[in-house]
Amino acid sequence: MRLERFRPSHSAYCRLRAPRLTQRRRDAAYHHDNVPPQPPQDWTDVDAWDRYLRAQARAAAPRADDILSLRFAPMVLREGGRLWVPGCGVDRGPALYAALGCRVTVTDVSPFAIGWQAALAAQPGTRIARGWKAFTDANQLVPAPGSFVALRQDFTQEQPDGEFDVVINCRAFSQLAPDVQRRAARSFEGRLRPAGHLIVDTLNVQGDERTTLEDSLLDAGFFIPGQEAERWYRDQLAATGIVHAMVLGRPMIPRGDQYPPDEFAACARRDQAILASFRAAYEARVDAAVPEAQRRLADGVTKIAHVLYATG
Ligand SMILES: C[S@@+](CC[C@H](N)C(=O)[O-])C[C@H]1O[C@@H](n2cnc3c(N)ncnc32)[C@H](O)[C@@H]1O
Repeated sequence: MRLERFRPSHSAYCRLRAPRLTQRRRDAAYHHDNVPPQPPQDWTDVDAWDRYLRAQARAAAPRADDILSLRFAPMVLREGGRLWVPGCGVDRGPALYAALGCRVTVTDVSPFAIGWQAALAAQPGTRIARGWKAFTDANQLVPAPGSFVALRQDFTQEQPDGEFDVVINCRAFSQLAPDVQRRAARSFEGRLRPAGHLIVDTLNVQGDERTTLEDSLLDAGFFIPGQEAERWYRDQLAATGIVHAMVLGRPMIPRGDQYPPDEFAACARRDQAILASFRAAYEARVDAAVPEAQRRLADGVTKIAHVLYATG
């Protein structure tokens, strides 16, 4: 299995071969050399976000099936349809939630993103994403008039007015400094109604980074279903000292230089077995946590955080 995480990225490769580019020159390189745009290293650099998002927005409209933030639509509708999407960027999902009758608020520090989102939401669903009708039919979703508000705001400092049933933050959390994550988590918690849901959708967030992220949500008062079992598993795996990466929730040994090349297969087999030895106890902990999660989900008060860890 190929583990993207341990291969030098194209941009890392370019850095080895070429003088370091400034963010502005990296953005310019995208147009001339087709180097994919990179998010700014400094997340407070609003101009850099504008340039990055402007480059991203040039992509052709995707198929509705490929818009990841839309996969929560049944849950958002079931929970009442009042949705806040902080750090929306140029995700087309929020405008489509409004086309499903949701009352949507998007916020972002980037003026470009906010103008783009407002213009997008004025279009019909069929113009926002390809295959919209087939998508709604296949998922038994019924288009209906909703509402859409786009605000330029820093979600770690400000929140939109009103109360929300669901907050969806996609790939706009784990890169923040730990104290800023804690502020953001409190910000989201403060705008959710009792028993509301926060979804934090992440890409390749593992190990200690994951613990930091979850700590910020727990600190803000969220309940994270199954979190204690996950953390126990993570701690056990980390304590082995075996180099591994989680792929689809399971520890895998990446091909690297952690073992002598001629002993790689044997060492990897031995260590994979050690990593696998925690699985049964982990699954038992997951099962044991279900009643408490069910109780908290049904108590009408607890605000729930769902953290999704996709491995890319
Ligand atoms: C990696 S992009 C993800 C965008 C979008 N959610 C998606 O999944 O395509 C991160 C986004 O968060 C925004 N952002 C970063 N820090 C922010 C903050 N403190 N407040 C509001 N938006 C922020 C950036 O402008 C950018 O649009």
